[in-house]
Amino acid sequence: MKLLIPVLFVIIGISSFVSISSNTKKDNTVIAWKDTMMADREKYLKLYRDSISGKENEPAEAVFKNIKVLKGKSTEQVLSIMNSWGHALGVTCKFCHDLNDFASEKPRHFNQTREMFDMTNQLNREILANLKTFRQPVVMGCISCHNEMKEPPHDGPKVQGNGARPRPRN
Ligand code: HEC
Ligand code: HEC
Repeated sequence: MKLLIPVLFVIIGISSFVSISSNTKKDNTVIAWKDTMMADREKYLKLYRDSISGKENEPAEAVFKNIKVLKGKSTEQVLSIMNSWGHALGVTCKFCHDLNDFASEKPRHFNQTREMFDMTNQLNREILANLKTFRQPVVMGCISCHNEMKEPPHDGPKVQGNGARPRPRN
């Protein structure tokens, strides 16, 4: 018992030091979504952040080649949204992009994401905003359904592995 108290103090001391130092670290990073793909996404985000340096607040459509659904956002906002989409689905950039040409519409998930984006907006504007027995605003994001999975479960317990259901690929 006598030993327990000093030991506890040491443990508390170490853990508060660790949390203080990780807090200071967090302040220096731009956005830190925590998931296993974060490091890989950060690598590509950094490449793009360097390339748009000085143009962070310019409209994305004036700087990037293939902006449709995110017209009106700044380049920096588009990159943050990219990170949040990756986080919501638990994926990295290459799930939706050809890494040699980020403007390419060839990857299947690229245009699927545009449809999902429109669907989410429609849900929010036309359905959720009109729910009468709820306190507004009621809002859904990609993560509300995806919860870090590529495909949200829809029929019973969690789908296997990382959320991909066995199904024919089109
Ligand atoms: C869930 C799919 C998805 C993920 C994950 C994703 N993107 Fe995107 N990205 C898109 C879509 C869709 C667009 C087009 C947006 C539009 O139409 O306005 C886009 C557009 C872009 C553009 C503009 C390209 C151009 O020249 O027009 C860049 C740059 C970009 N993404 C970078 C990234 C980076 C970096 C990551 C990883 C951190 C990432 N994206 C993750 C779907 C995704
Ligand atoms: C209302 C629930 C819901 C919301 C909100 C939602 N999704 Fe989805 N998403 C789904 C479902 C369900 C599927 C699986 C469709 C299927 O059967 O292939 C899916 C599939 C996808 C796929 C294809 C994944 C694959 O492995 O084929 C992408 C990419 C995607 N969503 C991106 C997004 C993005 C980005 C957002 C936010 C802008 C979003 N979704 C918001 C329900 C949702």
